[in-house]
Amino acid sequence: MSETPILDVRGVSKRFGAVQALTNVDFQARSGEVMALVGDNGAGKSTLIKGIAGIYPFDGGEIHFEGKKVNIHNPKDSAALGIEVVYQDLALADNLDVVANMFLGRERIQKPWQLDEASMEKACIETLVSLSVSTLRSVRQAVAGLSGGQRQAIAVAKAVMWNSKVVILDEPTAALGVAQTRQVLDLVKRLAQQGLAVVIISHNLHDIFEVADRITVLRLGYKVKEFLTKDTTQQEVVHAITAGTLESVPGMV
Ligand SMILES: Nc1ncnc2c1ncn2[C@@H]1O[C@H](COP(=O)(O)OP(=O)(O)OP(=O)(O)O)[C@@H](O)[C@H]1O
Ligand SMILES: [Mg+2]
Repeated sequence: MSETPILDVRGVSKRFGAVQALTNVDFQARSGEVMALVGDNGAGKSTLIKGIAGIYPFDGGEIHFEGKKVNIHNPKDSAALGIEVVYQDLALADNLDVVANMFLGRERIQKPWQLDEASMEKACIETLVSLSVSTLRSVRQAVAGLSGGQRQAIAVAKAVMWNSKVVILDEPTAALGVAQTRQVLDLVKRLAQQGLAVVIISHNLHDIFEVADRITVLRLGYKVKEFLTKDTTQQEVVHAITAGTLESVPGMV
């Protein structure tokens, strides 16, 4: 576990019209650790992630990455830093196979107009093997025929393949059954073991207590608490989610 956070979000705010979705929120992620982001519906979890990804840039506040202040105005900026987000809808192309999905938009070219299929297939298989994703029959299988857990694994592997340093997963197990949830949680642990900083949004505290080192709680757009998982209980976290009040002035250290 590293002490300095690779991703250090300081005092960010975001307003959508009349809705103040985030107010002066601090949030951190550390390499080799899993940070859970929890809170009730509408607490601002997805908004925080989308701000970090550059989809809806923040109105105010700062983002520091690897110790330096950075500007993230769009998804290209966050990808260039090594931040990858796996959204709940996954954004996979059903009609394409696994390899084509993992290289979508960043295909390797051999000659003009010709894709380097062999090298892409090799890189794809290597990534899946490194993550111990073993339930796929073939990387030439169309994604439409995969289970929810397999799709999630592909989306995560795609994020990992691009030298990412921070992988953010927005409710990766929400639609999955028991066995598939198991696979995804194991994958989350392996990402952290490989040295990545992982952020996971989930409503399932049981899952969070299994994989997360730390837990950040948002409530009504405020950060109300950050827990070390080993020092807290599900009951304490539920209390923070439903009734948490601010412990300090937002944005102040
Ligand atoms: N694009 C948008 N336009 C307007 N309001 C938005 C937009 N995105 C989010 N909001 C509002 O911001 C607030 C926070 O929403 P957000 O999606 O971040 O919540 P969440 O914590 O991810 O909730 P859930 O657990 O339901 O996914 C909500 O009040 C929501 O209605
Ligand atoms: Mg959300």
